Amino acid sequence: MLNNIDQILAQDNFSKQDIVCLLSADETDRRKIYEKALETKAKYVGKKVYFRGLIEFSNICAKNCLYCGIRAGNSNVHRYEVAESEVIEAAMFAYENKYGSIVIQSGERSDKVFTSTITNLLKKIKELTKGELGITLSLGEQSENTYKEWFEAGAHRYLMRIEVSNKELYEKLHPVDERHSFEKRMESLELLRKVGFQVGTGVMIGLPFQTLEDLADDLLFFKKFDIDMVGMGPFIEHEDTPLYQYKADLIPKLDRFNLSLKMVAILRIIMKDINIAATTAMQALDPLGREKSLKVGANIIMPNLTPIKYRNDYLLYEDKPCTDEDASECRNCLEARIKIAGDEIGYGEWGDSKHFANRK
Ligand code: 5AD
Ligand code: SF4
Ligand code: FES
Repeated sequence: MLNNIDQILAQDNFSKQDIVCLLSADETDRRKIYEKALETKAKYVGKKVYFRGLIEFSNICAKNCLYCGIRAGNSNVHRYEVAESEVIEAAMFAYENKYGSIVIQSGERSDKVFTSTITNLLKKIKELTKGELGITLSLGEQSENTYKEWFEAGAHRYLMRIEVSNKELYEKLHPVDERHSFEKRMESLELLRKVGFQVGTGVMIGLPFQTLEDLADDLLFFKKFDIDMVGMGPFIEHEDTPLYQYKADLIPKLDRFNLSLKMVAILRIIMKDINIAATTAMQALDPLGREKSLKVGANIIMPNLTPIKYRNDYLLYEDKPCTDEDASECRNCLEARIKIAGDEIGYGEWGDSKHFANRK
């Protein structure tokens, strides 16, 4: 007789209740979800994993998200901004090593000096790589004009995690003020799409106060918003943050990891052709975290290109991997890891979201 999980997996449309049931799956049932996810990945996105070389441009941030190690209120952080020449060097490393794309990520700032610095960098990188290097931005909430300026300067994808799609929970995890408005974040996602970006979002998994129902809603939110790409991973506590006080209430790290894997697998099953990242936070909880993510549906990986001297200052959470390895070490490491997972690397390709192309 088929059990509940088989019946759920045989469907094409999933209710919130179905998803909660999948998220609660035990070890035997989990395997069935992973198998289905891997099958879906093979059928709709194939074996190729795409690189996005990550440049953590600056840890200067105007915000105070209660979970984040580089929040403005943390005075223990040494603040930096990577020099222009170093960003260009990192981008050229990506170009020469056929990474296909880079991601420029930073704490959130919206002053003119910052926005123009980014615009100039985009133009230079585009020019030096003859327009061949794809650029994703992950620079937080900005005005529509700034999004336009960056899009016109050559960026074509934008990542902005919603963090949690439940407004009430969002407000427990952020200060409640104008700068941390849930509505504004939602609107920003709409604006990014309007401007023409391929839009990525994501959530953290295993946050204090978060329920399986919340996580099911997160997945349904991605579907409803018809998102092109997702990066999500476990929440990992950081000592210098207000949320650290709930450390004892968190689910154990192994469970958080498994729950995150299930989230990736279920997302692959319900949104077949989107891009899904095997995130670094997965590896912070399990040495094989990223390979395992690839095995259950992820198809994007972000080798770190930030110059080593800055890496220890971009600690959003504890136990972040790759703080001592330089760009070529991370490249070699990931090459081996991807091979172990049975995938191949899409060298020299942008590896855009098929979902974006299929929507047009
Ligand atoms: N644990 C896990 N992820 C975190 N982020 C920020 N702080 C943490 C944490 N403590 C994630 C957020 C943000 C991304 C850049 O890093 O989701 O969007
Ligand atoms: Fe700043 Fe992003 Fe950290 Fe929030 S999560 S404090 S916006 S770097
Ligand atoms: Fe950086 Fe493995 S990816 S050391």
